[in-house]
Amino acid sequence: SGYEPIDFVLFGTLGDLARRKLLPSLYQLEKAKLLNSDTNIIGVARQDMQQAEYVSKVKENISKFLGETFCDETWQRFEQRLDYVQIDMKNAEDYSKLCEHVDVSRTMVCYFATPPSIYGDICKGMKAANVIDPSVRVVLEKPIGHDLASSKVINEQVAAFFSERQIYRIDHYLGKETVLNLIALRFANSIFATNWDHNCIDHVQISVAESVGIEGRWGYFDDAGQMRDMVQNHLLQILSLVAMEPPTTLDADSIRDEKLKVLKALRPINSSNVAEKTVRGQYVAGFVRGAEVPGYLEEPDANEKSKTETFVAIKAEIDNWRWAGVPFYLRTGKRLPNKTSEVVIYFKRQPHNLFGDSFTTLPQNKLVIRLQPDEGVEITVMNKVPGLTSSRSMDLQKSKLNLSFSEAFEAQRIPDAYEKLLLEVMIGNQALFVRRDEIEQAWTWVDSIKAAWGKSNEPAESYQAGTWGPVSSIALLAREGRSWYESK
Ligand code: BG6
Repeated sequence: SGYEPIDFVLFGTLGDLARRKLLPSLYQLEKAKLLNSDTNIIGVARQDMQQAEYVSKVKENISKFLGETFCDETWQRFEQRLDYVQIDMKNAEDYSKLCEHVDVSRTMVCYFATPPSIYGDICKGMKAANVIDPSVRVVLEKPIGHDLASSKVINEQVAAFFSERQIYRIDHYLGKETVLNLIALRFANSIFATNWDHNCIDHVQISVAESVGIEGRWGYFDDAGQMRDMVQNHLLQILSLVAMEPPTTLDADSIRDEKLKVLKALRPINSSNVAEKTVRGQYVAGFVRGAEVPGYLEEPDANEKSKTETFVAIKAEIDNWRWAGVPFYLRTGKRLPNKTSEVVIYFKRQPHNLFGDSFTTLPQNKLVIRLQPDEGVEITVMNKVPGLTSSRSMDLQKSKLNLSFSEAFEAQRIPDAYEKLLLEVMIGNQALFVRRDEIEQAWTWVDSIKAAWGKSNEPAESYQAGTWGPVSSIALLAREGRSWYESK
């Protein structure tokens, strides 16, 4: 295959992310024959382990994840590439071992699938082993910091060894098919491109609901909360793609320049307006899909006094010419009724209603972009019900134009976000990765909200697991005569 041969070094190869996402995704790229036949995958971790044991561990894990789709023939090709190096990642001297496993004349991609606290150590170790040159690419996982100040520290540590052009910051939502499709929908269709502003759009809703709880990650999550875990990265990235001006090209910096401008135009939320523009919740015990689940404070390892939010709703506003007066309502939470993410664009009402008999006001047209699951795009339109009623009193009905990915692209598997992102790193395209200034701008906006919450002393409102969050979230829209989109 065409892509150049790579030494792909996976720091933290025995960790959760590598096990759940990265190694299975690399295997899928193998299956799709997208890896150069000379590409090697070098796993790095602290454990002392023989090569054979490592390979069989990887096999067991991938076959477990893929179930019936695991294919022996693909595996035989894939295992040839696997290599393991035992390195104590905090000890710079240890990295000399890496030199026996990589060839510095080839392109090296280093994936830091480790806690960010050791990114700096990895950079120093690589330097000590003399494997850094301008062709090396490094991939950083989130969370990049905890706030603006700590994200700067991490970014500085890496910037001391690598230029921005070499750094690929992951936000896995940017690798999702339907998130990318936002760019295609907006800029490949004149019906959307010409109607995408305050003249035509009433408001936008971005909702990322999860049915899972904390999944054994209480320590990490309690420190972060839903605001840092989901809003700072995933929701703000989606918002930027929905709201950005047309980029001049699809080049990385064209797109990232436009996203940054949106983040800069977000109206600050602080103590003066936080109560009116945000809602935070914490779930108590309830039922999700028929199963009884414990409350956040009863999860294993929980600190019973925690005030951390597991739900956030925000009325965001973008102060620029395109979006003046158009609210973007964001909502995300754990233990909601189901896992659904969608962007819903509500168009303005018709200025005049000819059909008074069947509707006092005509419903708004909606463009629903279903990010996951059941990926698709849907438009609600008003339609005449066929029949012999007089044209003076037409019977109207709300109907849907529905594009379902699974029907329209039946033969196409929807790849996991990580497959797409790993491929982009190997190709050397930064368009789907977050630039340092974007991350810092996103933190600035989020920090201000977090600080205002901190000052207010109000606890998060509770909501029952399996519901759509605290009642205030409904009120956030209701007081403006709006309501959250109810997905199927
Ligand atoms: C991660 C968060 O970034 O995204 C998790 O840390 C969250 O808490 C996950 O569950 C959601 O991702 P996805 O792809 O399942 O929607």
